[in-house]
Amino acid sequence: MKMANAINLLLLVLPLLFSPALGHFRIFRPREFGLYNKEHVLGPHERFGNPFGNPDDYKSRLHSMHDDVGTPIDGELQQVEEIEKKGDAGAAAAAGDDDSDADAGKPAQLMGADDAGGGGAATTAGLGAMKGKVHEKPFVSPSGFNGQWELFSKNSGVSAMHSILLPKVEKVIMYDATIWRISNILLPNGECRVLDPKTGEKDCYAHSVLFDTHVDNLIPLELMTDTWCSSGGLTLEGNFVSTGGFQGGANTVRYLDSCVGCKWREYPTALAAPRWYSTQAQLADGRFIVVGGRDAQSFEYIPPEGQHNAQPFFFDFLKQTLDPEENNLYPFVFLSTDSNVFIFANNRSVLLNPATNQVVKEFPVLPGGHRNYPASGMSVILPIRLFAAGQDPAKPVPAEVLVCGGSAHIDSYSKAEKNVFYEALEDCGRIRITDPNPVWKRELMPSPRIMGDMMLLPTGEVLILNGAMRGASGWGFAREPNFTPVLYTPRAKLGFRFRQLAPTTIPRMYHSSTVVLPDGRVMVAGSNTNNGYIYDSMFPTELRVEKFSPPYLDPALADSRPEIVNAAAIAQLGYNGKITVQVKAKPAAMILFNLKVTISVPGFSTHGVTMNQRLIMLGLESVNPTAGQPGVFDLAVVTPPNSAVAPTGYYMLSVVYQGVPSQAVWVQIK
Ligand SMILES: *[C@@H]1O[C@H](CO)[C@@H](O)[C@H](O)[C@H]1NC(C)=O
Repeated sequence: MKMANAINLLLLVLPLLFSPALGHFRIFRPREFGLYNKEHVLGPHERFGNPFGNPDDYKSRLHSMHDDVGTPIDGELQQVEEIEKKGDAGAAAAAGDDDSDADAGKPAQLMGADDAGGGGAATTAGLGAMKGKVHEKPFVSPSGFNGQWELFSKNSGVSAMHSILLPKVEKVIMYDATIWRISNILLPNGECRVLDPKTGEKDCYAHSVLFDTHVDNLIPLELMTDTWCSSGGLTLEGNFVSTGGFQGGANTVRYLDSCVGCKWREYPTALAAPRWYSTQAQLADGRFIVVGGRDAQSFEYIPPEGQHNAQPFFFDFLKQTLDPEENNLYPFVFLSTDSNVFIFANNRSVLLNPATNQVVKEFPVLPGGHRNYPASGMSVILPIRLFAAGQDPAKPVPAEVLVCGGSAHIDSYSKAEKNVFYEALEDCGRIRITDPNPVWKRELMPSPRIMGDMMLLPTGEVLILNGAMRGASGWGFAREPNFTPVLYTPRAKLGFRFRQLAPTTIPRMYHSSTVVLPDGRVMVAGSNTNNGYIYDSMFPTELRVEKFSPPYLDPALADSRPEIVNAAAIAQLGYNGKITVQVKAKPAAMILFNLKVTISVPGFSTHGVTMNQRLIMLGLESVNPTAGQPGVFDLAVVTPPNSAVAPTGYYMLSVVYQGVPSQAVWVQIK
């Protein structure tokens, strides 16, 4: 570049540098992924001495222990305030953020990650001709309600390393691992699991519980094989299938039917390879694929109950993405809308054809760092949007994947072992996996995060919560809990998609989990960064269960909640059909433009991965007052086109009006 040109450029750029609104996001946070993930380290003695060396250190700094377990630590409460302050500053900066600024000088395909060029009949339901770039306004409650936390239970019995909502019974199955031979709840009726018939050694604790979602109540359930760091998902019938785990549990497939009184059925030799830290996902044909795991660079399909797999399928991609710290465990696995399987591991991703077991596409590398366990980032397949007008059958329904957080450092795990806690990644990559030549588009979260949970809310918003701002997954390997949930509105304008919500006071570090409930609330449980059930450590084994009400549950909006009144009539859905959803609602008239009907599959939450989570926005044809029933409306809704878009199984169906979702009703697609 000639000198004169350089000076001209400087003159152009300098004023921008001092523009406070633009500076925060666009200039001081440069486009290069690597640059804003700086090497901040936190030494071992900054806050509590060395709590893992001497578990008593922290006590002298606390006033008292409360009577429940997992007491918040003063320092952390202080930190919440700091985060809040930071959040306010961040929001002010984000307000000046703008699409056009971000997009200046970029080729078209790098433009803001939005719905432009989605292919097919990309029309806004009911508005007919409006194509493409319609930005959604992020939902903001008129009263300013920014979410609310409630302590739902003081004791989940087991620390919820794994959680999933079971349809029909509306209970959450929570479990940790059998390895510790301890929990906070005994098996019923003096039952014990015999560990060694010769010595008579036994374990009388329950390691899984069926936890009620309505009242603080649980049923302990006996588990024989070790579920530590395992995977799972729901079948067509809404029953639970769990795979893998530790030692004797690693090759196990377990079944727990969705009923009260049901017991685990366990098949310890069903899988061909050990699956410890693997990911399970349902396919268009109803089967489950199980991908990866420690020392398992392979995948396989869950065999029919009682049968065994002879051989796994070797998967070179997992060998290629393996690094010395194994930053490719618990890969992100999603069924794409074309029946192929999207698999993201470490910083790369491919599309696998499950009919041929061949990789059919490789996506560009996501730069910036490492996204999978133990550099645990978070990921979802974003809400899949359908239209009543139908879809060009020649093109797959557009599908996008969002990957956020993780670690910029390949050695975050081994450094944490040496008491050096790198700041986590703060960025997200978003990619339209059904495009012929997709690219990653970058966005920034308001705060860094590892080990968080990313949940699809019934409105189609994405909730990012839990986890920490430093370190890595592993016992005692993270610092600075990220108390502040973040709401992401996928179809809002770039720069206006993230928003910080009311913080919790309970750290949810390693081994925590999250479940979206049918009433729209979000259940948060677990956190155990200790080798065992240990309550006097920096981050105690956490048994408290919270519920978070997102902004749409503002009590002031209670009257605005639509109510589905014909649940029984829509309990079974087929493909490519039409149903009428009847809702009772306050407004005198309902406008199609403000309506959404969504269906979502309960995800299996563990280690910051929510397996099989999927939300589909159904096509809406019309809304009309129901004849003879004042205040009730008929919504003419089109069901999904096929099982690649929406695999068979149980979904929570919600009607969303002006951003406020109804209580969901269960529907089964078969
Ligand atoms: C992707 O991850 C690998 C393995 O951890 C690393 O060697 C490589 O440099 C990364 N690539 C990019 C572009 O960040």
